[in-house]
Amino acid sequence: MDKFLITGGTPLNGKISISGAKNSALPCLAATLLTAETITLHNVPYVKDLITQRRLLEDLGATVLTPELRTHKVSASNIEIFEAPYELVKTMRASVLALGPLLARFGQARVSLPGGCAIGTRPIDLHLKAFEQLGAKVSLESGDVVARAPKGRLIGADVNFEKVTVTGTENVMMAAALAKGKTTIHNAAREPEIFDLAELLNKMGARVRGAGSETIEIEGVENLSGAQHTIIPDRIETGTFIVAAAITQGNLEITNCEPAHLKAVIEKLRETGVEIEELNQSTLSVKCCPQGLKGKNVTTEPHPAFPTDMQAQYMALMTQAEGDSVINETIFENRFMHASELVRMGADIQISGNSATVHGKTQLMGAPVQASDLRASASLVLAALAARGETVIDRVYHIDRGYENIVRKLSSVGANIKRINDSSEQKTAEQKTAEAV
Ligand code: EPU
Repeated sequence: MDKFLITGGTPLNGKISISGAKNSALPCLAATLLTAETITLHNVPYVKDLITQRRLLEDLGATVLTPELRTHKVSASNIEIFEAPYELVKTMRASVLALGPLLARFGQARVSLPGGCAIGTRPIDLHLKAFEQLGAKVSLESGDVVARAPKGRLIGADVNFEKVTVTGTENVMMAAALAKGKTTIHNAAREPEIFDLAELLNKMGARVRGAGSETIEIEGVENLSGAQHTIIPDRIETGTFIVAAAITQGNLEITNCEPAHLKAVIEKLRETGVEIEELNQSTLSVKCCPQGLKGKNVTTEPHPAFPTDMQAQYMALMTQAEGDSVINETIFENRFMHASELVRMGADIQISGNSATVHGKTQLMGAPVQASDLRASASLVLAALAARGETVIDRVYHIDRGYENIVRKLSSVGANIKRINDSSEQKTAEQKTAEAV
């Protein structure tokens, strides 16, 4: 199993470029199932979750060509299977995004019901209730969700989400795009990824209005056609690298990003003392303040508020800020797994329910730690970059799911980070012994 070996204490300096957004590329790839014509997606990040999503499309019968590493040309003209099996869904929950498009285009879908994961129980009841509102018959058979549109086509309806759900909103948008009549989604998620998906759907001939607001209206059409689309930059990767600059007291220029998509993150980090300048619409310059960081409280909430996907990285940063900071996690019930690993590195953090209090500032020390989910891994990388000595992060397959080339990107700005696996670790140990002898 691969690990990261990080020696901390070097300020990061230089330019770092942002990849396409994982959480936008995932629904956009699922949307290719809505048409028999070819969809070309550019700026798809080369990360494990996207490789899994591609495999899902291919298993269903789609052809996926990659004329360039980050360009996917998908033709779903020969879909013969309408099923996402447990083997795939258990490795990636976003496979549930196949439900909406399959149900809309073929009137049937079978997708394994995802179980809980490291950050919470994460049910999909709201997706299923919404499909029922669009006329689908939904049942659970041997652990699979089986959905059917009685006369082969969904019917537009009013969908009122009792809780904001990102993939739920995306699934319903895709399902409604081919439904008969109009669908209105109330209490829709407003993440930039929702807007990006709506852009793609509209390029395919869908009629989606209001994406990015609480109410999305979709006028169903008979057919959708081919289109080309470029995925937006990853706002969470951007936020992670802003923290990387700040936590190492470095100076980074972050290019190919979209600062407008992470206003709440930029605002909060500025409050703590991080100096962030918008050089132009897609470039940020980040420096840590000479007078040091101040602890500030934060609460995660749906967009446009502070995202849960930046909570772990923010916690790592707060270990380096003077004073207390209270971090409230309101989206997922179990998203503090990184806290105990940060404590192993010398952080002073107390957890009470959905609230974590970080008492700063503490000197972080390198230690062996274990990643528990994607963003938790990112927070451990950040802490390790600031720590004195060597940190070995185990289970970095989590980070491979969503951060493209993180080792290469961080090394290029001066970080001392290496990927090792058990055999190379063994070799290093052997080499060390040989040298010692
Ligand atoms: N929820 C329900 N029932 C549902 C759907 C959601 O109770 O049917 C609850 C969830 O359990 C959670 C809350 O509603 O408590 C919000 O969940 P949401 O559905 O918005 O999350 P998601 O769509 O499963 C996406 C991202 C996550 C990100 C969340 C929140 C993708 C592929 N995943 O998940 O990204 O944390 O929105 O912003 O878009 C990540 O990238 O590391 C990641 C976990």
